[in-house]
Amino acid sequence: MNDAYGRTINYLRLSVTDLCNLRCVYCMPPEGVCKRSHGEICSLEELAELAAACVALGVKKIRLTGGEPLVRKGICNLVEQLNALRPAGLEELCMTTNGSLLAELAAPLLAAGLDRLNVSLDTLRPERYRSLTRGGELQRVLDGLAAAEAAGFRDIRLNTVLLGGVNEDELGELARLARIHPWSIRFIELMPIGPGAAMGGAFLPASRVLEATTELKRVQNARCKMQDENSVAKYYTAPGWAGTVGLIAPMSRRFCEGCSRIRITADGRLKLCLHSAEEIPLRGLHGAALRQTLEAAVRRKPAGHKLSEAPSDSRRPMNEIGG
Ligand code: 5AD
Ligand code: SF4
Repeated sequence: MNDAYGRTINYLRLSVTDLCNLRCVYCMPPEGVCKRSHGEICSLEELAELAAACVALGVKKIRLTGGEPLVRKGICNLVEQLNALRPAGLEELCMTTNGSLLAELAAPLLAAGLDRLNVSLDTLRPERYRSLTRGGELQRVLDGLAAAEAAGFRDIRLNTVLLGGVNEDELGELARLARIHPWSIRFIELMPIGPGAAMGGAFLPASRVLEATTELKRVQNARCKMQDENSVAKYYTAPGWAGTVGLIAPMSRRFCEGCSRIRITADGRLKLCLHSAEEIPLRGLHGAALRQTLEAAVRRKPAGHKLSEAPSDSRRPMNEIGG
């Protein structure tokens, strides 16, 4: 699928639930979210059907997101159904998770066919983690990461949101996790979306990571397979390090020029851009009607966001889109 700007759309981010077992301050309101009635959320079969239609139209990579995807019952079953789309053209199946349930689920997820994991982790201090996630336990994530490695997951990526006044003083420490672990620690600039929109004062530019970790040197494309054309991160490493550090600066406009993504929410609505208000309902569409709707919608994908001028137009907070 190509859009009107000649971008190839081959990456689907599929949100499987808007629920989460944590309540990160930049993502969720303090009171949490109202549980939607069962019928409002797509069944696993509906999600698999939507994903299959996207693969038939050229999607090669699917990322499962939430909320927290691992709180969705039957998630391994969905991974199995999506894994069956490989002959149809699916090349990569991955997930973004907060890691808190990985200790139990890493091995079953790998067995079901998941290729890769991105684990969200903003701090290495237990107290700080508890307040940032409003009650989360850091040790569960660390145990989850260990379980993922033990199960055989490779190329694990950590996502760290840069938060002034919160994790500002441990950026070097977080980055240096990549010294001993073969992980990619990816730092993401805070975006003005959902509760994050009211936290503008906490914005830190990604360059802060380089100031805190001066030994880092840019990894050239040839040396880093992750640095593919539509990668949103710039990667760095240092001599003797097992892993890499990634910097993700979504506030810069270049990000959008190479965007290959579409998103589908857990209630079955297509979002052409994380930051646009437009949503196209897909539920109830099947076969040719579903494919035509998808193709026509993709041609209307906006050129990009205008976050430097105004907050996100998205009508949904991050827990409903999954980043
Ligand atoms: N800005 C940047 N990243 C965010 N995430 C959630 N909200 C924001 C925001 N406002 C991140 C989470 C997680 C991923 C799904 O999105 O930390 O890593
Ligand atoms: Fe949950 Fe992720 Fe949002 Fe934190 S950022 S509340 S872990 S969905």
